[in-house]
Formats: sequence, structure tokens, C-alpha cells
Amino acid sequence: MTAQLLDGKAIAAQRRTFVKQRVHDLRQHGQRPPGLAVVLIGNDPASEVYVRNKRKACEEVGFHSIAFDMPVSTTQAELLDLIESLNRDHRIDGILVQLPVPIHIDTQTIIEAIHPTKDVDGFHPYNMGRLAIRQPILRPCTPYGVMTLLAHTNISLRGKDAVVVGASNHVGRPMGLELLLAGATVTTCHSGTNNLQAHVERADIVVVAIGKADFIPGTWIKPGAIVIDIGINRRSDGSLSGDIEFKTACQRASWITPVPGGVGPMTVATLLENTLVAYAHHNN
Ligand code: GUN
Repeated sequence: MTAQLLDGKAIAAQRRTFVKQRVHDLRQHGQRPPGLAVVLIGNDPASEVYVRNKRKACEEVGFHSIAFDMPVSTTQAELLDLIESLNRDHRIDGILVQLPVPIHIDTQTIIEAIHPTKDVDGFHPYNMGRLAIRQPILRPCTPYGVMTLLAHTNISLRGKDAVVVGASNHVGRPMGLELLLAGATVTTCHSGTNNLQAHVERADIVVVAIGKADFIPGTWIKPGAIVIDIGINRRSDGSLSGDIEFKTACQRASWITPVPGGVGPMTVATLLENTLVAYAHHNN
């Protein structure tokens, strides 16, 4: 079997076009555009690239986009002041503080300072909790983007064995909750998991988010499985790789995401969609 590609680049472009059309319609009706503030602290090169992509996407769909580039010396109090003023700003529907923040700033304090209705990352405990109780509002972008990709396979997830490798707060855990909400039987594996291979080998759907190049051998993939690779890693030769050995996995999977061009673009498209959800909430 050769897997069909889940083309995140193309699917994300469709979603962005939908958002752009929606913004156009709003403007035609004399409404203000949705507003997103993207905050970057320091100059981590990877974060700079991610933030640039997010800001560019906002501008392309016609959002009111505000960029805050703050020095690495920014104190937690200064960042909290900024968030507080953005929470009060009626032109701003979404606030995104790019992670990681510098070590002297407490990530969770920042996440919880963002008003839950403006938490377009879906990281606030309120939004994580809404997902956990099957009443999601703003959903973490990467896992929700993966669900959009899975919908494109037209395969029902109900009763399927889904294995998530990686249990981080912002990706692995909400990924498991999304799959559970869709009716899959979910196992979340992590660094303490015994016999990871056995879990992956029986999975109908494998989602990997651990950030280690080619960590999951393609030979572990069950024939016909759907394979979602959230990892994006740079090999020592400079090339990009996911967390799964792509070539071998391709020969066994029914569907697979490429890296790059799979999950990555979906995260940005979902951020735009979340901003529309937040806008609808603030405008009603
Ligand atoms: N850093 C890496 N991915 C993300 C993301 O989706 N949101 C934020 N805020 N920071 C990130």
C-alpha cells in the first residue's frame, strides 16, 4: 500500500480562503474586522518564524492584526500589564503570546491572565476544561487542525483505536481529548510508557508529537493506519523531518501527513478560525 497524502498546505489554504471571505462579508455589512494581537518576547529564531507566519496569515485574511515585539528583558509584570490592556481592548478578539516565554516569566501565569474568550490558543484551563467536558469553545489549534485533516479522510473515527504519542499540555493531552470527543478509543503514550511499539502497532490512528526526528520506525505502523506527524525537527544535515520515519510509514499507512506541509499550516489556519469564533462571541 502507498499512503495518500493529507495535504495540510492545501487544506489550510481552503480554510484561510473561507476566513477571508467571512471577513469580507463582515466588512461589506459595515462591521469591524476580527482583531488578533500576537506577542513575541525575545528573539528565539524558531518563534520568530512561527510568529511571522501567523501575522502574515492574519493580514492576508483582513484581520486587524497588532504585533508586539518585546525584548527578552521584559518582566512578567510588564507582560501582564500588556495582556490586561489587550483584555480590555474592544478591537481585539484574540491574544496570542508565543511560547516559550523567557525563563523568568511563568508560562501558566501568562496563559491564565488572558481572558478565556480571547484565548485563541485554547490553552487557558477554562478552554481545556470545556474540551474535557465535551463542550469545546476555543480549541487548542494544533489538535483541532489535526481533526480537520482527519475529517478529510472521510473515515469515521468512532470505535477506532487511536494512539497519541506525547502528553504535553498543549498538544498531546488536548489531542487525546479531541479524538475521544470524536468517538475513538484513545491511548496516550509518554516517556514512561512501557512497550511503546506494541501500542503503535495496534493503532488505527497514530498521532505523534514528541519532537524527535524519525523516532517512530515506519515498520511499526499497522497496515491501513492513518498516520499524523506533528513533529518538525531539523536533522544534522539541515533537512526537516517529522517524528515518524516517513518513507517506510508511507508503504503501510492509508493516509499520512508530510513534514513540512502537513500539520504545521493547519495550526495557523485554525488560529484564524478560532479568532472568528472569539469575534462572534464578542460581537453578540
Ligand atoms: N509555540 C509553539 N506552538 C505554539 C502555539 O501554537 N501557540 C503559542 N502561543 N506558542 C507556540
